[in-house]
Amino acid sequence: MDSEKEIRRLVKLINYHNRKYYLEDNPEISDYEYDTLLKELIASEKKYPQYKTADSPTQRVGGEPLKEFKTVKHKFPMLSIDNTYSSEELLDFDRRVTKLLTEKTEYVVEPKIDGVAVSLIYENGYFIQGVSRGDGDQGDEITANLRTIRNLPLSIPFSSTIEVRGEVYFKKKEFDLLNQRRKKEGEPLFVNPRNAAAGSLKLLDPALVSRRPLNLFVYTGFLRKGPREHYPVLQLLRELGFPVNPHVELFTNIEEVINYCRKFQEKKDKLPYDTDGIVIKVNSLTAQEKLGATTKSPRWLVAYKFPAAQATTRLKDIILQVGRTGVLTPVAILEPVGLAGSTISRATLHNEDEIKRLDVRIGDKVFIEKGGDIIPKILKVVKEVRTGKEAIFKMPEKCPVCGGKVYRDTDGVAVRCENVRCPAQVSERIKHFASREAMDIEGLGEALVNLLVQKKLVEDYGDLYFLKLKLADLITLERMGEKSSQNLLKAIEKSKERPLPNFLFALGIRHIGIHSAEILSEKFQSILELRNSDLETLSSIPEIGPTMAESIFNFFRDKETAIVLEKLEQAGVKAIKKSGLKVKNEKKIFSGKRIVLTGTLENFTRSEVTRLIKGLGGRLTSSVSPKTTFILTGKEPGSKLQKAKTLGIKIIDESEFKKLIKGSGLHI
Ligand code: IVH
Repeated sequence: MDSEKEIRRLVKLINYHNRKYYLEDNPEISDYEYDTLLKELIASEKKYPQYKTADSPTQRVGGEPLKEFKTVKHKFPMLSIDNTYSSEELLDFDRRVTKLLTEKTEYVVEPKIDGVAVSLIYENGYFIQGVSRGDGDQGDEITANLRTIRNLPLSIPFSSTIEVRGEVYFKKKEFDLLNQRRKKEGEPLFVNPRNAAAGSLKLLDPALVSRRPLNLFVYTGFLRKGPREHYPVLQLLRELGFPVNPHVELFTNIEEVINYCRKFQEKKDKLPYDTDGIVIKVNSLTAQEKLGATTKSPRWLVAYKFPAAQATTRLKDIILQVGRTGVLTPVAILEPVGLAGSTISRATLHNEDEIKRLDVRIGDKVFIEKGGDIIPKILKVVKEVRTGKEAIFKMPEKCPVCGGKVYRDTDGVAVRCENVRCPAQVSERIKHFASREAMDIEGLGEALVNLLVQKKLVEDYGDLYFLKLKLADLITLERMGEKSSQNLLKAIEKSKERPLPNFLFALGIRHIGIHSAEILSEKFQSILELRNSDLETLSSIPEIGPTMAESIFNFFRDKETAIVLEKLEQAGVKAIKKSGLKVKNEKKIFSGKRIVLTGTLENFTRSEVTRLIKGLGGRLTSSVSPKTTFILTGKEPGSKLQKAKTLGIKIIDESEFKKLIKGSGLHI
C-alpha cells in the first residue's frame, strides 16, 4: 500500500468529518470512530514524517512550545469600529454615508462577536500564518495556536494568496466548564469568555491551547479578484470552508437595519456565544474604498452596541419607602452609574429577607442589573473588596415617616407601618387614586400630592373633591398659582365620572389590580352591591381567590373606608357601569405588540384604548422606542410622533386603528 496515498486519504477523510462536526454541526461518525482515524494518521505520520502536510489534522494538537512570539506587521492596519448606541445615531451614520456616495447604499449587518481579532493568511490553499491584532499595526505570530482551532480550515480550495480576518471566541458553555475546571485545580478564573479566548491565544505552548475549545468566525476577506461586494465575499468564504456567522444579512435601507438591531437584542442572549453589538457595513467594496477611513476607524462601517445590562457601583445607603398599604420597602441608594442608557442611583431591595439573602451592607461594592423597563436590582455583592467598615442594615421598630409601630405581616416577609394615617401611606394612596388607570387626574403628580398632605390640605382622596373650598391655600403652594390651581380643580371635577373598573381600582383595595377590578365590574353593578356582598359570593368569582375576597370584604368593613366613601358620595363621584367596550371572541391581533398613543382620539379615551389593546393581546406603552410596533396618532400629537418618524416606526391614525379593530372581530 502506498503510504503517502494512505496519509493523504486519512487527512482528507478526517478534515471532511471535522468540517461536518464543527462547521455544519452535522456529524456522520461517532467521536470514537473519529479518534480511531486520528490515531491511525498519527501512527502513519510518525513512520513517514516526510509525508506530513500543513493541513494535517494532527497539526491541531500543538507543536513545540515557543520562547516568545514573533512580531509581524499587518499588510493593512487592523482598525477599530466607531460605536453607536441608538437608532438616531444609526440614522446619522446613514446620512453621513449617503452624503458621500452617489449610488444607493446597501448594508450588511453582522453580530459583533465578543472575542479576539485575528488575521489569517492562506497561500496555495494552505493556512500559513496567523497574527493577533496587537496594536493594530503589528501583532504576534500565533499560527501554531490558531491551528488548534477546530473550525479553522487548515486548507481551502483556493490557490491564490488570501487574507481573512475574524474573531476567535469561547462559547459560553465551554467557558463555564473551563472555569469550573480551573476552580477545582486552584487556577485563577477568567472574568468572561473574551478574556478566556485572549488568555488562551497568548499561551506559548500550543499543546495547552489545543485543550481549550476555541472557535472562530470570519468576517472579512481580502481577495485579489472576485466579488466587489461584501455580502458575496462572505458567501464565497463560507463556500471555501470558513465559519461565517449565520446571522449575517443584507438590507437595502437603514430602517431595515434598525429593525434587525431591535430584533437581535431579544435573541442575542439565546446564542451560544457572547455578542456585544451589531456591525453594520456598506456592502459595495467600491463605495467602501471611496469612503475610506480615519486613523482610527473606517467610515464605511459602524457598530451598534447593546446597552450594558450590568454595572458595579457602591451602595451608599439603604432608605425605607412606605407604600400605600404601609409596607416598608428598603431602597438602595447608589453612587450614580450609567447603565442601559440611563443613570442609576437607586435600586430596589424588595424586603429585609432579600437584604439578608444578598448579605448586602452599607458601603459594599455591588453588581446591579437592569433588564428592559424593569427597575434596577442588586445582583450580588463583591465581598472580596470589603474593608470591614461596611455597616449591617437593621429594620427599625418604628416607621421612619410617622414613628408609628411596625409589625411583620402574616405573610412573614413584609414589614408594615401600623398607622393608616401615616402621611406616607396617605400620600401613596392619593397618588394611586389619581393615577392614569385609576381616576386619571391630570396634573396631580407626586410632588403636589406630597405637598397637599404635608400642608394638611387633604387627609384622604375623598378630600380632593373639596379642595375647591381651599382655593386660597392651594394658590399659595409652591409652583402653584391661580391658573394651575384652576386646572387642577377642573381635572379633579372631570374625574367624578369614571368607569366602574377604574373607580374600583382607584380605591386601593389590597391585592386588587386593574384586571381584578374589571372582573368584579362584570359581576357587580355598583360599589354598593360589591360592598354588601358576603365572603362566600366574593370567593366564588372565577379569578378572585380567597385572599382577594377577604381583602375586599375587610376593606368595606373598615372605619376609614366608610369615611372616605362618604366623602366621595357627598362630592358626587359616580362610577359608570358600562364603558361600551366588550372584548370577547376576537382575534388577538395585537399579540406581543407595543403601541404608543399620542394626541387625543375622537372616539376613545386613553383608558378605553388601553383596554382595547390589552384585550387584543397588546400593550399600550408610554414612550416611543425601537421596540414600538406602531404609534397611534390623534389630534394634536406631541413630540412622540416626531420621534416615531425618526425611528421609522409605523404611524396609524384613528380610522386605520378602527379598521384594525373591526378586522379582529371585536365590536365597538
Ligand atoms: S469588521 C475596522 N465584523 O470588533 C475593523 N469586526 O471593536 C473591521 N468584531 O477589531 C472589523 N465581530 O475584532 C468586524 N462581524 C464583525 C465583528 C468584528 C467582532 C471585532 C473586531 C474588531 C472589533 C472592533
